[in-house]
Formats: sequence, C-alpha cells, structure tokens
Amino acid sequence: MEEREPERIRFTDAASYRTVRSGRTDIDPREMRDSMGHYASGITIITGYDDSGPIGFTCQSFYSVSLEPPLVSFSVMTTSGSYPRLRATGRFCVNVLAHNQSDLSNQFARRASDKWAGVGWGPSAAGNPVLDDTLLWVDCETVAEYEAGDHYIVVGAVNEISPLGWHSGDPLVFFKGNYRHLRSHERPVRAWFVDEEGY
Ligand SMILES: Cc1cc2nc3c(=O)[nH]c(=O)nc-3n(C[C@H](O)[C@H](O)[C@H](O)COP(=O)(O)O)c2cc1C
Repeated sequence: MEEREPERIRFTDAASYRTVRSGRTDIDPREMRDSMGHYASGITIITGYDDSGPIGFTCQSFYSVSLEPPLVSFSVMTTSGSYPRLRATGRFCVNVLAHNQSDLSNQFARRASDKWAGVGWGPSAAGNPVLDDTLLWVDCETVAEYEAGDHYIVVGAVNEISPLGWHSGDPLVFFKGNYRHLRSHERPVRAWFVDEEGY
C-alpha cells in the first residue's frame, strides 16, 4: 500500500505563547473536559483500511472546515493506537452516527478490543469502511496534520459523500458525557444564514 505523509505543522510555539500571555497553567484537564462537555456535538467513527484489516475509532471532534474546496477536520489523541495506521494510508472515512448507534460508539471507543465484531460495513470507492445505517459519511484523503498539545488536528480533502438518499433518521447527540436524542416534539428554529446559497 502506498504510504503518504501529510504536511505536518507544529503548534508548539503558538501553545507556549498562549500560556505565557494568559498566565494560566493551572486549568485542570478534568475541569476543561467537563466545561467543554456543555458544547453538544454529533458522534462519528473515523475508519480506514490497511493490510491488517479495518481500522476505526470513535471521534466527537469532527467538523466541516471549507466548502470550496471541500475540507473537513477531526482531532485525535497523540496516544491513539488507530491513528498511526490511518496516517500511513493517507485517507479516512468519517461515519456520522444515527440516534440508535450509541452501542457502536462505545464499541469503537475501546482500545485493543475487537472493535469490528458484528459490525456491518461496505467499502467506499477508495476502500475505506462505510458503516451500515449511519446518518452520513464523508470519504477523504489526508492533506494536513497539526500537532496541538496532546492531539493531532487532521485535515481531509473530501473525495466522496454519501448520496442524498442515504440520510434518514436523527443524529446521535453527545452532551455532558451522555448520549442524547433529539425529541420528536421539538420545534426546530431556523438558523439565520448570511447567504441562503452559502453559509
Ligand atoms: C463519545 C466519545 C467521543 C470521543 N471522541 C474522541 C475524539 O474526538 N478524539 C479522540 O482521539 N478520541 C476520542 N474518543 C476516544 C477514542 O474513541 C478512543 O480513545 C479510541 O477508540 C482508542 O482506540 P485506539 O487506541 O485504537 O485509537 C472518544 C470516545 C467517546 C466514547
């Protein structure tokens, strides 16, 4: 398999600049995590495939970066066992979970267990695993990686997106350390967009 190294940029200098300026080195990691837990998100499983088989890990820190060109990003712990394998392939697929897939999220959050036992999937055009019954998927090639503290920020250029007919159901929501669902009786309030065609 062809191995490609993404562009790698270190944030070390920027991080020490921030620390010096703010004077804060005493923010407890648990306090930080608990506070950030008030920011609700969806849940994804980032997948890939190499000579040893399918790769995957649960990832909350995913977002859409750019529309033109289409770019997305996620953050992964520098200690991840899955990420070095994904990095070596130079590509990945983001699988956004549907409301009934919290078990799958837990299964892919475990280290070194057989994450793929009983999991249904098929390959994207590039060969990355597309999980069954997800809300949406985005297949990418890795174009940049930034080292930021105890995580890498990975940027992917989008090559393939799930077809419109794929998207049914509601998202799995993560909030304050718990999986949540949208309530069916909730009345959606439309967000204000600068440009209806854009964003
Ligand atoms: C709800 C949830 C969200 C998570 N989000 C992330 C994340 O954004 N980035 C990350 O590196 N790990 C995240 N994790 C932890 C990884 O899934 C976990 O450390 C990983 O699967 C460990 O396996 P690995 O060593 O094969 O990477 C999350 C776990 C859970 C349960």
